[in-house]
Amino acid sequence: MTTRSGKLLTALLLGLSLSTSSLAAEPVTPKLTDKLSRLLQEEMRSVQAAMTTIHSAMVMGQHEDVAENAQQIHDSFILSQSMTDQDRKDLMSAVPEDFVKLDQEFHELAAALAEAGRTEDTDEQQKLFGEMTRNCIQCHSTYVSDRFPGVQAIKD
Ligand code: HEC
Repeated sequence: MTTRSGKLLTALLLGLSLSTSSLAAEPVTPKLTDKLSRLLQEEMRSVQAAMTTIHSAMVMGQHEDVAENAQQIHDSFILSQSMTDQDRKDLMSAVPEDFVKLDQEFHELAAALAEAGRTEDTDEQQKLFGEMTRNCIQCHSTYVSDRFPGVQAIKD
C-alpha cells in the first residue's frame, strides 16, 4: 500500500469510528478511578486557562505566548508520561478507543498550534484554535454528557 492510500484509509477509519462513537457513546466519567478523575479535571482546568490565554494572545499578535501556551497544553497531555503504568491501564479500561483517538487528535492540534505560534502565522492559529474548540465540544458532548448535558454534538 502506498503511503498516500494508507493515510486516506486511516482518515476514513478515524472518521467512521468518530461518527459511530458520537451516536452511541456512554459517559466515561462514572468509570474513571478517583485518581484519574482528579488528574483529568486538573488537566482540563489548565487546558481551559491556556486556551483563554491563547485566545487573547492570538488576537493581539503575541505569537510567543500562543506558542508557549499551546506547547504547555501539548506537554501536560493526560496520556503523557505523568501517568503511572497502573493509571494508564485504568484509563484504557475506562474509556473507549475513540476517546483516546480524540485525545490524541487534540494533542496533535496543540502541537500544530504551538508551531503556528512560532512561525507567527495568525491565519493558521485561528484555524487550529477553532479545530481545538471543536474537539472540546466533540469529546464533552459524546463522553461527558452526564456533567455537561447542555453541550450538543457538532453536526458535520
Ligand atoms: C478527549 C476528551 C476531551 C477533550 C478533547 C476535552 N475534554 Fe474537557 N473534559 C473531559 C472529561 C472526561 C471531563 C470530565 C472529567 C471528570 O469530571 O472526571 C472534562 C471536563 C472539563 C472541564 C471541567 C473540569 C473540572 O474542574 O471539573 C473543563 C473546564 C474542560 N473539560 C475544558 C475543556 C476544554 C477547554 C477543552 C478543549 C480545548 C476540552 N476540555 C477538551 C474530556 C475532554
